Amino acid sequence: MNKILTAALALLLATGCNAQSKQKNTNAITQSNNQAMNKIVIFFSHAGDNYSVGNIEVGNTNIVADYISEITGADQYEIVTHKYDGMAYTPLINLAQEEANKGELPPYEGAAPDLSQYDTVFIGGPVWWGTYPQVMFTLFKDIDLAGKTVIPFTTHEGSGLANCVSDVKKAFPKANVTKGFSIYGHEVRTGKAKVEKWLLEL
Ligand SMILES: Cc1cc2nc3c(=O)[nH]c(=O)nc-3n(C[C@H](O)[C@H](O)[C@H](O)COP(=O)(O)O)c2cc1C
Repeated sequence: MNKILTAALALLLATGCNAQSKQKNTNAITQSNNQAMNKIVIFFSHAGDNYSVGNIEVGNTNIVADYISEITGADQYEIVTHKYDGMAYTPLINLAQEEANKGELPPYEGAAPDLSQYDTVFIGGPVWWGTYPQVMFTLFKDIDLAGKTVIPFTTHEGSGLANCVSDVKKAFPKANVTKGFSIYGHEVRTGKAKVEKWLLEL
């Protein structure tokens, strides 16, 4: 009888604990959603021929940006250039290296975003030669993030955050730049839980 009681109690406690932690997670997500109006994800992502994942229709960073918006309700601004459209991986690697070495600032399509209503700005892109692609730095010159919370993230194939966080800090010395998050590009399609875990820890 004692054994049955103990087992029932253990089950009750386990169920109770589970319900509690689920509630906690849901609250955190809802809270973020309530604050959706003041968050935005600014990202660049290259669809097409890429390392490790082959020819992809939606870029790796784009997928992470979509997870962030889905989970937190953040708006999005995609940095678009057609400069690399249809390029095979090796010529792209060479071109990107040349751009980085020369500090080129390729133009992006359209206008820079109006960020006046946002106080939290996620910034994400692939690591290209140890930092973000140069076109992202073109946009950085056109926006002011003073006083805003800036949360950098990358997708990569081994470099992690590389120099991205320090380069964001250099670009926006008056922003509050947080520690940053990175995920392997080949992991993003199955990695939503990792992104969610990171967002809940913010
Ligand atoms: C031009 C180029 C340069 C890259 N350089 C690096 C690098 O320095 N370090 C690294 O870990 N991955 C590097 N990668 C791999 C990408 O960071 C990785 O595939 C990323 O997930 C691509 O994201 P995207 O699909 O959003 O563009 C490079 C890829 C390309 C195309």
